[in-house]
Amino acid sequence: MAWTQWVREIPDFPLPGVLFRDVLPVMANPEAWHEVLEALEAQLRPLQPDAIFAPEARGFLIAAPLADRLHAGLVPVRKAGKLPAPVLQEAYSLEYGENQLEVEDDRTLAGKRVIIVDDVLATGGTVAATARLASRLEAHVVAFAFLIELKGLKGRQKLDAGVPVLSLLVQP
Ligand code: PRP
Ligand code: HPA
Repeated sequence: MAWTQWVREIPDFPLPGVLFRDVLPVMANPEAWHEVLEALEAQLRPLQPDAIFAPEARGFLIAAPLADRLHAGLVPVRKAGKLPAPVLQEAYSLEYGENQLEVEDDRTLAGKRVIIVDDVLATGGTVAATARLASRLEAHVVAFAFLIELKGLKGRQKLDAGVPVLSLLVQP
């Protein structure tokens, strides 16, 4: 069974009117999860990333095994107030609210090749803010990668048009 069969759709979560794509059942199935990681690794390896930036929380779950496969560092991008060391912060809005993301102010990332990974590209607010953080660290974003892109929410329009976007599954 293809991994896409394991994506669960939950109506009215977290707010009425939102059809939430839940990728946790994909991760709970070893064959489906392996298929996802194989596909991401195969398509992203040629980009030779130094680091994977991943927004909290589901982005972490994808980026951790992927970073190991690509021999890249993992840079967690967290909701405000969670990281212990000095941070950079960016505000953003998403389908169901507003928030701030933070990344450790790690100047060793300057000039590094970075891939930004998350479960879902919806309005693009989350990864656009993540890309702004990467750029403030003077890292070079070489790709965005998602399990699912919700095309109707036009998230791509918030991303730098010159950077490739890999979406394993595109839904209307
Ligand atoms: C969800 C999802 C993406 C983001 C996509 O995360 O995991 O990170 O929203 O939406 P966008 O493209 O409109 O920004 P959420 O903020 O719900 O956080 P969580 O993973 O911590 O639950
Ligand atoms: N699933 C996960 N995260 C999301 C979604 C979704 O359907 N929409 C916006 N962020």
